[in-house]
Amino acid sequence: SMAYTAANISLLSKPSVYLSARALVIFQRESYFSTSSASAFQDKAQIHRKSKLPIASSLLDLGGVKVTREEIVKDDPSNNVPDSIFWKLGLQLHRRDQHPLGILKNAIYDYFDSNYHNKYKKFDDLCPIVSTKANFDDVLVPADHVSRSYNDTYYVDSQTVLRCHTSAHQAELLREGYTNFLVTGDVYRRDSIDSTHYPVFHQMEGVCVFAPNDFEDLSSDLTAYAAEDLKKCLGGLARHLFGNVEMRWVDTYFPFTNPSFELEIYFQEKWLEVLGCGVMEQEILKRNVEIGSIAWAFGLGLERLAMVLFDIPDIRLFWSTDERFTSQARIYIPFSKGKLGLKFKPFSKFPPCYKDMSFWINDSFTENNLCEVVRGIAGDLVEEVKLIDNFTNKKGMTSHCYRIAYRSMERSLTDEEINDLQWKVREQVESKLKVVLR
Ligand code: DAH
Repeated sequence: SMAYTAANISLLSKPSVYLSARALVIFQRESYFSTSSASAFQDKAQIHRKSKLPIASSLLDLGGVKVTREEIVKDDPSNNVPDSIFWKLGLQLHRRDQHPLGILKNAIYDYFDSNYHNKYKKFDDLCPIVSTKANFDDVLVPADHVSRSYNDTYYVDSQTVLRCHTSAHQAELLREGYTNFLVTGDVYRRDSIDSTHYPVFHQMEGVCVFAPNDFEDLSSDLTAYAAEDLKKCLGGLARHLFGNVEMRWVDTYFPFTNPSFELEIYFQEKWLEVLGCGVMEQEILKRNVEIGSIAWAFGLGLERLAMVLFDIPDIRLFWSTDERFTSQARIYIPFSKGKLGLKFKPFSKFPPCYKDMSFWINDSFTENNLCEVVRGIAGDLVEEVKLIDNFTNKKGMTSHCYRIAYRSMERSLTDEEINDLQWKVREQVESKLKVVLR
């Protein structure tokens, strides 16, 4: 579930989902290394905001912030960003109007624009590299919360992360005075590998602040008022996307809202979690907006919804450059009366190939670390990594057996190619994770 509950400690949602060429621009060097605050990256982001100073060698432009690979992928214990993740930065699938994620984003925009008279300000180009303060502290994520761990989050340095949710922008936008806004962006999480999980996915965040004079009756329960308004707005959004479906509100917990809810809809014979939301914690408002205001907020995973709406069977397809997939977006007909137009029909599936590997783990072994090694070698050719056997012997040594499913979305893989991948995986799992292969 999307909640930060004790039982489900993953930050958002488990529910929560290839492209290559991207222009690297050449600029000249800027001198930001001379400043003295905590993170060189943040200094740079700051300086960039104030002046348009030209910057160093080959750069990536992330929402106006220019970064080099060397600043993001560093051989340093405070950094855990692999190359494979660096190459996803700046692709911005959600800003392609023909891409399923862009289509879904625009459908949500349409709902807000037409029901709220263009009142919602839209942001979809905010830099995904944020401070730990913005990503965690500002939204009241407890100091000991698992989402802060190096096992769950990509750190650029001890105080800078690749945002793990769009909530990272809430406080800053509130401080800048925005009261109604939508933030769409790529978010990053270390995770396991299967058809619905990918280390980069996309979220949309929405916030609505009421000023004290928005209420006629100040004696009424403002929290109840906000909760009511939130349910009306988001219920309407779900009907706009899914048609006239059955819905239910499930109580949950998020650090940043109270009360907190998940909206579920009954769709294709299953209850599907659509989003997380709630009445914003007063502490966030107190720190960033005027006293006496009240607000609600929501966050939704775009891949998760797009997979259901467009019948997309594997999350890797969002990254495909294969024309059989990408061309389908162009024949999509905008839905009317809540009914969707065309589906993205999967082109024929190629056969999977399974390889098992067993090893004795050590204390620092985690499945996320294993998955990152596998993705670093096989990229989008790996479909799933699954623990199929787990036992501890009399000496207290624990053995894990993982089954790796290799399958391309685009072509048949040769035995030779797969054996080669698996050989490299075995080699690196042993050397990087310090486990003992059996
Ligand atoms: N940030 C949450 C997550 O990634 C999603 C979320 C839930 C955002 C509730 C919100 C909210 O703004 O109110 O799991």
